Amino acid sequence: MTQKSGTPLNDHITPEQLFFARRKFIRLAAIFGTAYALAACEIEPKTGLSLTPTATPANLQDTLTPEESINHFNNYYEFSFSKNDVADLAKNLKTSPWQVEISGLVGNPMTIDAKELITRYPAEERIYRLRCVEGWSMVIPWYGFPLNRMLKDLDIQKDARYVRFTTLYDPDQMPGQKSSSFEWPYVEGLRLDEAQHDLTLLVWGVYQKPLPPQEGAPLRLVVPWKYGFKSIKSIVKIELVAEQPATFWSSYNQAEYGFYANVNPNVAHPRWSQANEYRVGETGQRPTLMFNGYENEVAFLYEGMDLKENF
Ligand code: MTE
Repeated sequence: MTQKSGTPLNDHITPEQLFFARRKFIRLAAIFGTAYALAACEIEPKTGLSLTPTATPANLQDTLTPEESINHFNNYYEFSFSKNDVADLAKNLKTSPWQVEISGLVGNPMTIDAKELITRYPAEERIYRLRCVEGWSMVIPWYGFPLNRMLKDLDIQKDARYVRFTTLYDPDQMPGQKSSSFEWPYVEGLRLDEAQHDLTLLVWGVYQKPLPPQEGAPLRLVVPWKYGFKSIKSIVKIELVAEQPATFWSSYNQAEYGFYANVNPNVAHPRWSQANEYRVGETGQRPTLMFNGYENEVAFLYEGMDLKENF
């Protein structure tokens, strides 16, 4: 990845602050159709979420990044290396039917359509910061469910220590996969305790709508305290494994992209500082926060670890 410069931004769009209102969920249910509506309707009774900005530990005072920017400023190398092209090039990705294989060291392996998986777990809204290793960030209103809800249903075997995620491999639909510069498909991994952390989400929606293809439809991971490249898109496989899995970016350049990839202003990327970031849609730079601002929630996962060595 290269540090990016120009952006197709519209910073005049008013952030959709009224997003939190209950009535919008009714609209969401209508937009998503019956299957998704079921999930949306379960938000209140099952989770008791107040649907206010205090519902998650993220700093929700941050201004939301406009939807237009979120959807037209994307990293998705299966389609393009240029952020501005992805939305157009990905628009015909066939995201239904979409089988997700859940396998490996589990007592209950399954292959399930993404739509069915989504409706199994109550939907939550989570407004998270996304900090890319390239030095930009956004604040994004996601819909999804904590991965740990699904993991609980798998009867995880005692040898399982990591979770490995795989993106669709289909060079006909994803022309970037014809490039021999990378090892396809895109793969990512988390330590099991990271995967079980309540902030780790499986995401199927953004800004009250199903994910558009460029955002990783129909199902992606979002791990807000890690650099954005851990948040793998368009997942077709989730495996519980014993050994630390290879990941797309560390296979490409191990010296530059570590397995942990925790946002850390004190550990520079070999080619640039990580001390500051540019918030898409704003001017100037702001200091990058340890663990992207989620230090209170996640620092315990790394107690005793050298975060420079385990970058
Ligand atoms: N997942 C896949 N399959 N392919 C990718 O190229 N890019 C990653 C991540 N997930 C990527 C991916 C990177 S580098 C970032 S910063 C985020 O997706 C960008 O997510 P966004 O386009 O939703 O902002």
